Amino acid sequence: MATSQTKKTTGSRVEASVEIAVSARNISKNYGETEALKNLSLDFPRGQLTSLLGPSGCGKTTLLKIIGGLLSADSGEVEVGGQAVTGPGEDRAFVFQDFALLPWASVIRNVAFGLELRGVAKSERESIAEKYINDVGLAGFENSYPHELSGGMRQRVGLARALSVDAQVLLMDEPFSAVDEQTRRKFQEDLLSLVQNENKTFIFVTHSIEEAVYVSDQIAILLPRPSRVSEIIKPSGFRDKGPENIRRDPEYLDIVDKIWASLRSYVE
Ligand SMILES: Nc1ncnc2c1ncn2[C@@H]1O[C@H](COP(=O)(O)OP(=O)(O)O)[C@@H](O)[C@H]1O
Ligand SMILES: [Mg+2]
Repeated sequence: MATSQTKKTTGSRVEASVEIAVSARNISKNYGETEALKNLSLDFPRGQLTSLLGPSGCGKTTLLKIIGGLLSADSGEVEVGGQAVTGPGEDRAFVFQDFALLPWASVIRNVAFGLELRGVAKSERESIAEKYINDVGLAGFENSYPHELSGGMRQRVGLARALSVDAQVLLMDEPFSAVDEQTRRKFQEDLLSLVQNENKTFIFVTHSIEEAVYVSDQIAILLPRPSRVSEIIKPSGFRDKGPENIRRDPEYLDIVDKIWASLRSYVE
């Protein structure tokens, strides 16, 4: 069942009620002796970006794979659009850290590849791919090959591919960790406008506090194994101030500090 919740009123801004696109309930997962997740519950509002933030090894990728249907939970359930997840589906698409591009195929073919697998005709899939190539800032590189692109550009190809299949839920596992700092910042800005322009549900894994606060509507802080959600933070006041102003906004800086204060005791 899709449920609704009403967001808090922040300042003078009255926010509309939001629909829960993805719901994880009481998820537990063990790998042999390792308890990765224990009774983890979390709701992901439609049209928003939720970050899973926590130290390495706390179970972020495990949760993402369970939501994606690539891994099954030992107990608990995930619902997407009100339907229980039993495996991978067209409603969800992954953006991988290592890009997962076809090296022998051009940018446009890579972007259209998900549609090709779904049997969409060539002209239609290429026009859809073209739109997303433009949206991610790769216009002019349609006929380039992955080895001719920088890491940052390859990452954009992966993102355009995930967007072009029109999945409602985008699962992003530390997608920016393999690129340099400048590229990463530019991506974070672009991701913000994508979230604003596409009514999709983004589930974004990161271990960077600053990155989570910058890109997220909602941040779920996961504690070390066995993981559950320790805290949910909803930054709101600086979202509309423009990408270049966020990093010096007092609320942004406060939230970064507050999260560090909660996580520092877990760092050995
Ligand atoms: N296939 C696996 N087999 C055994 N242990 C695993 C496997 N995948 C993950 N783990 C363990 O489960 C825990 C959570 O892993 P993971 O979800 O990858 O964490 P994160 O993405 O937060 O770094 C870690 O202790 C990891 O070593
Ligand atoms: Mg991981």
